[in-house]
Amino acid sequence: MIKKAVIPAAGFGTRFLPATKAQPKEMLPIIDTPTIQYVVQECVDSGIEDILIISGKGKRSIEDHFDRNIELESHIQEQDEALYNQLRHIENMANIHFIRQKELNGLGDAIYHARFHCGNEPFAVLLGDTVVESVIPATQQLIDAYEQYHQSVIAVEEVPWDRVSRYGIVGGKHLDNRIIQLTELVEKPEREKAPSNLAIAGRYILTPQIFAALEKTERGKNNEIQLTDALIILLKQENIVASTFEGKRYDIGNKLEFLKTTVEFALKRKEFALPFEAFLRQTIKNIDSSRPK
Ligand code: UTP
Repeated sequence: MIKKAVIPAAGFGTRFLPATKAQPKEMLPIIDTPTIQYVVQECVDSGIEDILIISGKGKRSIEDHFDRNIELESHIQEQDEALYNQLRHIENMANIHFIRQKELNGLGDAIYHARFHCGNEPFAVLLGDTVVESVIPATQQLIDAYEQYHQSVIAVEEVPWDRVSRYGIVGGKHLDNRIIQLTELVEKPEREKAPSNLAIAGRYILTPQIFAALEKTERGKNNEIQLTDALIILLKQENIVASTFEGKRYDIGNKLEFLKTTVEFALKRKEFALPFEAFLRQTIKNIDSSRPK
């Protein structure tokens, strides 16, 4: 049983400056809902209600978002009951704990901060700036794989071959059409040296042995403790599987991806779908007609 999840959300978000100068990128809204709320919802939908958010400097609004705001609630209650219920839902979604990563020493270091909270249990990791839209929640899909194999599970997705050098890439033997028994994990390989085009995708189930591996992990890229480097150490000690998943991943830490995410989500929202589609069609028409013939 996976009962706990860790959501790292302490990073600088430099790719999204200046918006992230004084606010967390994890709070950037996709339409009207902060990204991290989708991530917490994915945990809850996967049966996990004990969540540790790795927070840091300038991230207090994440805590406030999942806290009660009684003044606002009583103000809204009289005006809009549906909205009031939405606000109450947010604060009751899960048992959310926070720990601060005081120095930003990388994703691996962020996960290491969860060692006392997770103890000797396997746990899920969901990057706080990554949303996955799927029928079965992505984390639930990984939990299913964990329950079958009892090994750490890394979510992976296919990326174009000319982009493999931007990602952590896995190599190994397919156990079925989704699951790969890992023999190799390479951080940002050159295209010619990449064992596959399957990239690590921001969701994991990790055994608690990851903490000992993190202790041995030296500073890597950007002088940070990288989770992938710890997984490379872990792979020498125990088996790890990678799993593809049904669903679409959105990395909102990247400005263009964030824009695309907003458009796709707006087209799926009942109240916006039709007028927004009409707006997009008109915009494209205007672009086409202003193009020199
Ligand atoms: P990223 O590498 O995407 O986040 O980490 P970043 O460092 O904030 O991004 P850029 O490159 O500067 O734009 C993925 C997740 O891990 C968290 C981030 O908050 C993000 O949700 N993270 C990263 C930490 O919690 N601590 C860290 O030291 C680094």
